[in-house]
Amino acid sequence: MSTRAIGAAALAIAGSILIFTPRNTRAAEDGGALFKAKCAVCHGANAEGKPALKAPSLTSDEAKKLSDADLTDMIANGGKEKKATHAFSKKGVSDEQVKALVAYIRELQKKS
Ligand code: HEC
Repeated sequence: MSTRAIGAAALAIAGSILIFTPRNTRAAEDGGALFKAKCAVCHGANAEGKPALKAPSLTSDEAKKLSDADLTDMIANGGKEKKATHAFSKKGVSDEQVKALVAYIRELQKKS
């Protein structure tokens, strides 16, 4: 194989990695980092919940039944009761990041 062919092959491989990395997987990864930084203290590293803090599991059957809109509202605005302590949109978490967190929670729910 000529150097040129090797170069072309390397380019093709690099290109396909870029193209085929699914977008929502990347969102879920960002969500994972955010979750560890902002949520794991209360909800646990794998979102299993911490009864001592009254923080519910986010992978329970009940949590699986919540719609994306419910999860989004809970994370961004503190849910129906508008819990200020849980209104992360007022604490520097962007809409995009809330979406990434919801995607990440769904990933965890699939695994549990
Ligand atoms: C200070 C502790 C604390 C932190 C930090 C925290 N939560 Fe919570 N979370 C709670 C508690 C307590 C509840 C239960 C609130 C209630 O229903 O009264 C809750 C409820 C929820 C619910 C609703 C669950 C259900 O079954 O209704 C979701 C979703 C959620 N949290 C996601 C998150 C995410 C995502 C983060 C990080 C951005 C986060 N929480 C950070 C304590 C926390």
